[in-house]
Amino acid sequence: MNDTRESAEGHPVIRAIRTRRVVRSLTTAPIDQGDLEAVVDSARYAPRAGNRRIHRYVVVTRPEMLRALRMISPGMLQVPTAAVVVCVDWDRAGTFGFTQADPGPYVDVGTATATMLLAAHALGLGAGPVTSFSATAAATLLGLPGSVRPELIICLGHPAARRTPALRRRPGNEWADVVHWDRGARSAGSGSPHGRDTTRQRERDEQRIWSQIRKITPAPAPATVAAPAPASAPVPGLEEHGAEAFVDVYADDAELTNVVGKTFQGREAIVGHLRRLFADPRFLAGTPVGSPRSQLRWVTDDVVIVKTYTEREGQQTLAGSPLPLRKTYALRVFRRENEAWLLVSDFYMDVRGESTLSYEEDTSQPS
Ligand SMILES: Cc1cc2nc3c(=O)[nH]c(=O)nc-3n(C[C@H](O)[C@H](O)[C@H](O)COP(=O)(O)O)c2cc1C
Repeated sequence: MNDTRESAEGHPVIRAIRTRRVVRSLTTAPIDQGDLEAVVDSARYAPRAGNRRIHRYVVVTRPEMLRALRMISPGMLQVPTAAVVVCVDWDRAGTFGFTQADPGPYVDVGTATATMLLAAHALGLGAGPVTSFSATAAATLLGLPGSVRPELIICLGHPAARRTPALRRRPGNEWADVVHWDRGARSAGSGSPHGRDTTRQRERDEQRIWSQIRKITPAPAPATVAAPAPASAPVPGLEEHGAEAFVDVYADDAELTNVVGKTFQGREAIVGHLRRLFADPRFLAGTPVGSPRSQLRWVTDDVVIVKTYTEREGQQTLAGSPLPLRKTYALRVFRRENEAWLLVSDFYMDVRGESTLSYEEDTSQPS
């Protein structure tokens, strides 16, 4: 690993990552407008959840506004000559189903910030993030609309010192202690706790899991599920039971992520969401095409992943125009709980032709 670390050192991006430090000592020299624009512009190259553009970037260069921002920011230790206030437009976020409890918009603040910090460093500027400030006061000072909430401020300026300070070592909390390689229980198989009964136990487990899968998978007929070990008795499927088919399937701490990346935490929230969906006649519009295709993989003796592919035709957009054949993957993680197999993660994704996901036609800003 050391060789790799050293050879990576020669790469300019790796070098930039390793030499960037938060700079809190800045000169009073103004930042070139082109450089400032390049820093802000770099945010748009940062990855973001669902490829949504729900963030707003407010650039501050007026000295009196910078002074006012400092007054409401106990964590702003530097005296910047410019600042970028990274905000989330929650009204806009809401139109894509994001709430303030969803992690995506905040993670995006982080990816945009990291990208801008690196861009500033590459241009020889000093930069540092600040979250210790009053968001309401900042919004008031900047005259932001009610739905636009400042989440982070990037301070910018010319560094007073040229040299990058070295990373401090922290005894007792070494890097090797916080990085985990290939973590998790080893794959099941040899040395299984089921001993000689492994194969039969596996078959019984898989029958239980397939039975759960059939309950929650839209299919022309339950018997057509392409399972390696089909259960003997047919199980009434999702089309008959609707949201109720899911009630006993999820673990208490389960998580469901839908095709637009919105996540529901916990069985109660998931089942509530599914009841709302099933109450909408558009949700089950159209008909399944062919049999679902499922693959089951044992990860450990107590964890199984099932990937299911389904096709459905005859669905429509919210505006009522016809949708082409819908191809969807469901990636499900089951966990053994006592004798039952419960769904802990239920992740849906539509198959798309493009290499980059683009859920929206965003004409509000140039891309
Ligand atoms: C989410 C976040 C919030 C931060 N808030 C502040 C802050 O309010 N004030 C500050 O001086 N530094 C802040 N920092 C900077 C960290 O203190 C700094 O990144 C950390 O000490 C590591 O230093 P380095 O980036 O120079 O390696 C913040 C960093 C992050 C990622």
